[in-house]
Amino acid sequence: MYQLCPSILSADFNRLGEQIKTLEKEGIEWLHIDVMDGDFVPSISFGMPVIKSIRKESKLFFDVHLMVTEPERYIRDFVECGADSITVHAEACEDLERTIEQIREAGVKVGVSIKPATPVNDISHMLSDVDMVLIMTVQPGFGGQKYMEECTEKIREVRELIEAEDLDVDVQVDGGINDETMETVLTAGANLLVAGSYVFNDDLAKNVKHARERMDE
Ligand code: DX5
Ligand code: ZN
Repeated sequence: MYQLCPSILSADFNRLGEQIKTLEKEGIEWLHIDVMDGDFVPSISFGMPVIKSIRKESKLFFDVHLMVTEPERYIRDFVECGADSITVHAEACEDLERTIEQIREAGVKVGVSIKPATPVNDISHMLSDVDMVLIMTVQPGFGGQKYMEECTEKIREVRELIEAEDLDVDVQVDGGINDETMETVLTAGANLLVAGSYVFNDDLAKNVKHARERMDE
């Protein structure tokens, strides 16, 4: 399964509902939702009230990326406000195994993410416990940054481990995805591509069409 996962971090929040409708019309299935706490990452984005209110109007798969310290404190809240999947950072959890279990018990899909400097080795023992691995390809915290080439090898590495263990785990990439980097990450083994500025700058519908065509090539 290949999916383009638009990140609403780059949306125009004055027109958020309308932009989500456009994504739905264009056949998007996954919506990437970046939650930042000003502690794990320098910036603050948005939280539960925003998710709760877009949940009322959208049936998209809500892929919630928590860039939050000790995310175990908020799992229940995010499930209640409408997350379909929760991704936590390995670097942010007191007890990563326990947090993953907690997400599973809450009845949603589980993702684990690593920052550019964190080796795949730190999470390789838990691939069979998650539905998705998110390889950050920029420093988490802001949209519109440049893809870090040194992360390509990590995508390849995690895909190889998943295949070697014959697991059904998605590999998501997040940060700096555009016309040039898309091919690199797909070739390396990513199947879920987060895209913020690439799709939300200028004409959203046109950009989504273009990006999805490129992915199919
Ligand atoms: C960065 C976020 C990303 C961000 C990607 O910390 O996790 O999801 O929105 O933005 P682009 O695609 O513009 O790099
Ligand atoms: Zn993200």
